[in-house]
Amino acid sequence: MTVSLWGGRFTGGPSDALAALSKSTHFDWRLAPYDLAGSRAHARVLHKAGLLSDEHLDAMLTGLRALGADVGSGAFGPAPDDEDVHTALERGLMERVGPEVGGRLRAGRSRNDQVAAQFRMYLRDQARLLGGKVLDVVQALIDQAARHPEVAMPGRTHLQHAQPVLLAHHLQAHAWALLRDVERLVDWDARAAVSPYGSGALAGSSLGLDPEAVAHDLGMPRAVENSIDGTASRDFAAEFSFVMAMTGVHLSRIAEEVILWSTAEFGFVRLDDAFSTGSSIMPQKKNPDVAELARGKAGRLIGDLAGLLASLKGLPLAYNRDLQEDKEPVFDAVDTLEVLLPAVSGMVATLTFVRERMEELAPQGFSLATDVAEWLVRQGVAFRVAHEVAGECVRVCEERGIGLEDLSDADLAAVSDHLSPAVRGVLTVHGSLASRSAHGGTAPVRVHEQRAHLIKQVARL
Ligand code: ARG
Repeated sequence: MTVSLWGGRFTGGPSDALAALSKSTHFDWRLAPYDLAGSRAHARVLHKAGLLSDEHLDAMLTGLRALGADVGSGAFGPAPDDEDVHTALERGLMERVGPEVGGRLRAGRSRNDQVAAQFRMYLRDQARLLGGKVLDVVQALIDQAARHPEVAMPGRTHLQHAQPVLLAHHLQAHAWALLRDVERLVDWDARAAVSPYGSGALAGSSLGLDPEAVAHDLGMPRAVENSIDGTASRDFAAEFSFVMAMTGVHLSRIAEEVILWSTAEFGFVRLDDAFSTGSSIMPQKKNPDVAELARGKAGRLIGDLAGLLASLKGLPLAYNRDLQEDKEPVFDAVDTLEVLLPAVSGMVATLTFVRERMEELAPQGFSLATDVAEWLVRQGVAFRVAHEVAGECVRVCEERGIGLEDLSDADLAAVSDHLSPAVRGVLTVHGSLASRSAHGGTAPVRVHEQRAHLIKQVARL
């Protein structure tokens, strides 16, 4: 059976070129379960409005159930003449219940409200699945932090040694960023859970149908307030796509560090064999491909968002066929993160951190100079002066090729009267870490507390 949803006023069929261009079943088929759920809900409101008899409703729901089973088993799929998933499933229904019953379902709905609603429904499910996978990465970071509660590392700004920090503090910084991405999905869901069904093509329905009932049937608390907005808006898709891109960027920042940290020059981490690859020519190689793919795929996720926004920017209200271009970039983002997230959580979970190397480098690059300046401030010296004095210490050390902790009592006195041997109390990495004990700081007690907060937030989501 060939079902065209719009043949009446045409004398001929579409050209092959148009049909090929127009077709979307190769990518929108994943909306099939949502189309079927929408059809069941629509049949029920048609019945409630007196537009479908009890027998017809029964036949329709039975037919939709049978069709759903065939879609699930693969026995039913899109045919070459089907323009999109909605057309294909309408054909499937007609084949099962006949045109007398099947032909009644289209009253009061349009593919414009169908596709807008189904896209929301699909993305809401994906948000839950992907959110769970992002939380797996968060958990892997938390577990690594918990396994290394006291390991120090060089904290960097501009990629230069800045101040020592705890490895756990650094890992938890990545965890907070990803946790916000999950929170973004939760916030997004409240805006996305609004049903466009009942908007029709753009102007709403004249048939006394109940859009709120359809919304509730489909697990959404409300129907859209404006049928034009319901059919023409795609900010729900763009916002979702932003969260995908942001998550990709956060993963990419972790990835970039893993790539750097696994070099011989850094030597901070060793990659597990299961999450690294070899070289076809260089037998010694162990490459951080997971991290590199994460970094690469972030570009792709950004591209998906940019492409979608570009498709939307010039569109007058209401529906335009350009909107069919909304799905592939977002589906691509979903598919990309679906494979990427487990690989990143696995990579993070199996990293071996090289404590000796991190702690050897933590005090290097005069990373305790700020501690000298702040020690002076605690002695009552103005910070401007303290900064000068600590800088002078660095200069002297650099000239002589020694560390700050190597300055003798006489050296200290020569730099400034304000410096006494007691300053050496802050010239250790662990002293420095412990001193940063204000809320949010890298002191071990704070980082431990912070981890408890993180764990609580994860459990809440
Ligand atoms: N497949 C279309 C989409 O994805 C929905 C069909 C709307 N077509 C139409 N001629 N109004 O947006």
